[in-house]
Amino acid sequence: MSATAAQKPALSNALAMGSAVVFAALGVLLALKGIDPVMNLHGALLALSSVLALVYIFTHQTEQKDGYLDGPIRVATLAAVFWGVVGFAAGDFIAWQLAYPALNFDLPWTTFGRLRPLHTSAVIFAFGGNVLLATSFYVVQRTSRARMPGRWAPWFVIWGYQLFIVLAATSYILGATQGKEYAEPEWHVDLWLTVVWVVYLLVFLGTLWKREEPHIYVANWFYLAFIVTVAMLHIVNNLTVPVSPLGTLSYPVMAGVQAAMTQWWYGHNAVGFFLTAGFLGIMYYFVPKRVERPVYSYRLSIVHFWSLIFLYIWAGPHHLHYTALPEWAQTLGMTFSIMLWMPSWGGMINGLMTLSGAWDRLRTDPVVRLLVVSVAFYGMSTFEGPLMSIKAVNSLSHYTDWTIGHVHSGALGWVGMVSFGAIYSTRSNSWSGTSGSRPSVSCSTSPRCGSRVSPRG
Ligand code: HEM
Ligand code: HEM
Repeated sequence: MSATAAQKPALSNALAMGSAVVFAALGVLLALKGIDPVMNLHGALLALSSVLALVYIFTHQTEQKDGYLDGPIRVATLAAVFWGVVGFAAGDFIAWQLAYPALNFDLPWTTFGRLRPLHTSAVIFAFGGNVLLATSFYVVQRTSRARMPGRWAPWFVIWGYQLFIVLAATSYILGATQGKEYAEPEWHVDLWLTVVWVVYLLVFLGTLWKREEPHIYVANWFYLAFIVTVAMLHIVNNLTVPVSPLGTLSYPVMAGVQAAMTQWWYGHNAVGFFLTAGFLGIMYYFVPKRVERPVYSYRLSIVHFWSLIFLYIWAGPHHLHYTALPEWAQTLGMTFSIMLWMPSWGGMINGLMTLSGAWDRLRTDPVVRLLVVSVAFYGMSTFEGPLMSIKAVNSLSHYTDWTIGHVHSGALGWVGMVSFGAIYSTRSNSWSGTSGSRPSVSCSTSPRCGSRVSPRG
């Protein structure tokens, strides 16, 4: 028998409470029977957060269904700011450690080796990830003119993701890691993220399904590509066999050069889909919205979307130049990386040209300054990247601070600045309901009406 609209909250509440009880029981089992201290700690954290969730769900069973669901977005935004501060502070500290190695104190958890992955994961996954969760939920609801489905699912995504961050961070500090860059967490943490991610995909797709706008606005294609591809990368690169279901240690399914290739297929596409596609979604909503202009060229957004998606996936071998990887694969990676320059600049041109006729905003609006700086850095890092992927150039740049400079031009200049712009932008607009300024629109959101399109909502 299908549930009626009136019964639905009761069903959702029961499902949510049931899941919390199952996770709490699993947490208690791992806390008491886990065979290493990290698993015991993680079991206790899972049990504690599940009990807190259970109490919260029990005391908040009624649902206000007016307008958009913005509560989870607020939590993710605050979390992004919090983890941003943690991640930047860790980056600052490890920079001092590089200059003054005496700052590696005798305690193992204070060393560069453990704090560096803490920095990279905190800024990419905790800061960047929360920005992506917050903005994707914000943008998909407004451009679809639909409320996110599910009473508790969006909340589970946001709080489940925070639990993932805490599990990952405590693992690194306590020394439990797979040792793969940007994929450090052990198998049980990966499994938890997979559960959270599948619910995220369902909530995103559910909102698109319920949409009242006939057209799926371009920002949502980028978010969807990010969500789907990150799921694929995460699962394939983390295929391992645990030694025991009660312990953190596991052994990877792949070895040798196959493992290296898979790792950098993952690593490069983490750049392409986590640090690029998702943030292009932010650009495509917030730039036109903020300057009240339509997207410069809708056609260009289609062409550069599909070419970016197709080319990125082949470029990973540029991280393995002059290694045991076959020569032809290195050359293939280099060639695709050079071609990648074009779709990347397609995005940059579309972002910058959207400001045509509105450049005066740079004088008065700090958010526009952040957005323009970020798109400029996107252009610079995606010119530098193809250059560095040329084997002869890479023989000079690899193992030098050039790579670190390139990373931060993309990660801090592009990802950081566009995130700050989006956070400030949503702060200075209305947060709740369906209110918020509408841009002047030169045509509807249908691609058939012309090439210039504005985000609605
Ligand atoms: C206050 C801002 C930041 C500071 C002070 C900082 C500092 C650092 C330092 C000192 C390193 C190690 C460099 C080395 O091993 O030689 C590093 C690495 C790294 N940082 Fe940052 N960082 C900052 C912001 C960011 C942001 C916002 C991101 C990403 C969104 C980021 C991503 C990375 C990555 C991916 C690496 C590893 C690079 C590699 O292995 O090639 N950083 N950072
Ligand atoms: C067309 C686009 C891009 C290409 C072709 C490209 C290419 C490259 C190359 C050749 C390297 C050096 C590999 C090595 O010597 O080990 C590199 C490193 C890196 N790039 Fe890019 N890049 C691009 C855009 C970006 C952007 C936009 C970001 C950040 C948002 C970024 C983040 C990184 C990171 C984090 C690394 C360091 C990986 C490591 O830990 O070794 N890249 N990239």
